[in-house]
Amino acid sequence: MLKKSIEDILNAQVEKEGYSSNLYLAMASWAETEGLKGISQWLYAQAEEEKVHMLKVIAFINERGGKAIIPAFKKPPVSFKSVSEMFAEVLKHEQYITDSINQIVAKTIEEKDFTTQNWIQWFVAEQIEEEAQARDILDKINLAGDRHMYLFDRDIMGMRGGEEVTGDE
Ligand SMILES: [Fe+2]
Ligand SMILES: [Fe+2]
Repeated sequence: MLKKSIEDILNAQVEKEGYSSNLYLAMASWAETEGLKGISQWLYAQAEEEKVHMLKVIAFINERGGKAIIPAFKKPPVSFKSVSEMFAEVLKHEQYITDSINQIVAKTIEEKDFTTQNWIQWFVAEQIEEEAQARDILDKINLAGDRHMYLFDRDIMGMRGGEEVTGDE
């Protein structure tokens, strides 16, 4: 049975993963209207992955005898100044999520909930990858420059390493 404090911090993570999904969906939609098909595809796929993360947390809370709460989500931004600023925002957001996952780890240690501590390690590893990926994309964009998005837009999906767009893990 989950302790209330763990259930609460995991429910807060449900909101954060769901918001991440919506944020990337908003970015995908903006990129689509800017004619950046590859970038928008990458972001749509990312939005799917974040939804899978949210579902993982919901399933865990419920499996462990807690009650997952589906929250209202804050409205994400509608438009972005440039592709580079948008991806800087992606990196910043992923760093915020990493911090949030680390707080869950700390809480599980405080509460001696080693089952949840073990389970959350998947997210710890996932955040290393997500930050590295965002950093990699940002480096390439800064190299190319915002006015030279054509080649980058064509190549970005190849940077997902052939993983499934469904986000199945
Ligand atoms: Fe996530
Ligand atoms: Fe993420």
